[in-house]
Amino acid sequence: MLTTLTVRALLRQQNFIDQQWRDASQRFEVTDPATGEVIARVPDSDAGDARAAADAAHAAFPDWSRRTARERAQLIKRWHALILANEQDLARIISAEQGKPMHESLGEVRYGASYVEWFAEEATRICGDVVAEAVPGRKMIVLKEPVGVVAAITPWNFPLAMIARKIAPALAAGCAVVCKPAEDTPLTALALVYLAEQAGLPRGVLNIVTASRVRTPAVVDAWLADSRVRKITFTGSTPVGKHLARESAGTLKKLSLELGGNAPFIVFDDADVDAAVEGLMAAKFRNGGQTCVCPNRIYVQAGVHDIFVGKLARRVSALRVGPASDDASQIGPMINARAVAKIDRHVRDAVEKGAHVVVGGERVRTEDGPHYYAPTVLTRATPEMALAGEETFGPVAPVFRFSHEEEVIRDANDTPFGLAAYFYSNDVRRIWRVAQALETGIVGINEGALASEAAPFGGVKESGYGREGSRHGLDDYMHTKYLCQGQLG
Ligand code: SIN
Repeated sequence: MLTTLTVRALLRQQNFIDQQWRDASQRFEVTDPATGEVIARVPDSDAGDARAAADAAHAAFPDWSRRTARERAQLIKRWHALILANEQDLARIISAEQGKPMHESLGEVRYGASYVEWFAEEATRICGDVVAEAVPGRKMIVLKEPVGVVAAITPWNFPLAMIARKIAPALAAGCAVVCKPAEDTPLTALALVYLAEQAGLPRGVLNIVTASRVRTPAVVDAWLADSRVRKITFTGSTPVGKHLARESAGTLKKLSLELGGNAPFIVFDDADVDAAVEGLMAAKFRNGGQTCVCPNRIYVQAGVHDIFVGKLARRVSALRVGPASDDASQIGPMINARAVAKIDRHVRDAVEKGAHVVVGGERVRTEDGPHYYAPTVLTRATPEMALAGEETFGPVAPVFRFSHEEEVIRDANDTPFGLAAYFYSNDVRRIWRVAQALETGIVGINEGALASEAAPFGGVKESGYGREGSRHGLDDYMHTKYLCQGQLG
């Protein structure tokens, strides 16, 4: 797909540090997740490259933070326009390195761009408070200030949207940024940074280094140890998030952690079953089930269980599995061999413990490669199965039958994670009761598509803290300063 890029310059294979495209001492290979074919070679950066990026960001911060909010907003808007102007090429890059079908990649470009536009607008609305006089002759003023240099560490499942919704608020707040994209999907991030350069972002304000799985710890450790890096924003697994929280304690950095989920999706007897099936299709099978907010446990009340499963099975068996380049594909390859092995382990374990395979339940072997997994529906799922406790991150929908509301709330909350939850009901009293009882940062009520730049995205419990999107997403990149002026009486 990369051979069909209209703007070849978007295919960057170097780091961007201090306004220069630079090599590192080594490179690593980026591969097509379906075929394993090498599609690019990018820098395998080390601690020295990471420090050079932090040096550049640190030097750029004073000037950038002092520019007017309007000036920052205009540059971010220009970046937004360039992202949209290059949406087809960006989608091709996402599909090539991540495996998402083209129509979904295009959706991701627009989704990511919506955060860039939103934060360009929010930049001009940053404001503090003038506090009512508490002591005669004193003025008390509260300012919002950018935290400083931000390190953004991003995942592979949304290679454009995740980085956009971290970098855009950081820049809007007046922070300078160093970033490291996931080793599986560095090309989209590099293209995005190239467009920011074209938009006229000043020298050193945005820097990117790429690194392989082996060298990533050296890059991240360099930023963790660097007291000039004042904030880390990370999307990824809970164990890595905990590591970052522990290791950044030495310099007490501000943190935003968007970590793992184990989302329950509950269908009550009083729900509109067709709407619930549609909602589940949207939430579960987007990106082949590789999203943190994917329903991982589907609880269906006994009275509608069989009808729900029948309708779901019909929809799922019609899903078309195939390469990202095929317009008709709905489920692309999984990101790598480890991902497919985990999905298969979950399904095997569930079947051994009594689950019934209604649809799918196995790898799909295509000429295109071994990383495809059949969209799957399982029934008779139980809490003892591995898929009830761990995020499967694949196209598997395990259905648990339940009888009572209290029972399902207890089971839904019986997890260390708390990112998203969904439920379908038409009883207004139940809606409020259940929405309040679910221990998650996001709740979908009769809705499967939750994400929006205007909403705060983030979790509770071991799904992390901090919010992305909405006005709260900007707050995460600022601190609050209190000025007290006396002798005015
Ligand atoms: C994620 O999987 O982390 C993000 C999903 C989304 O933005 O909807």
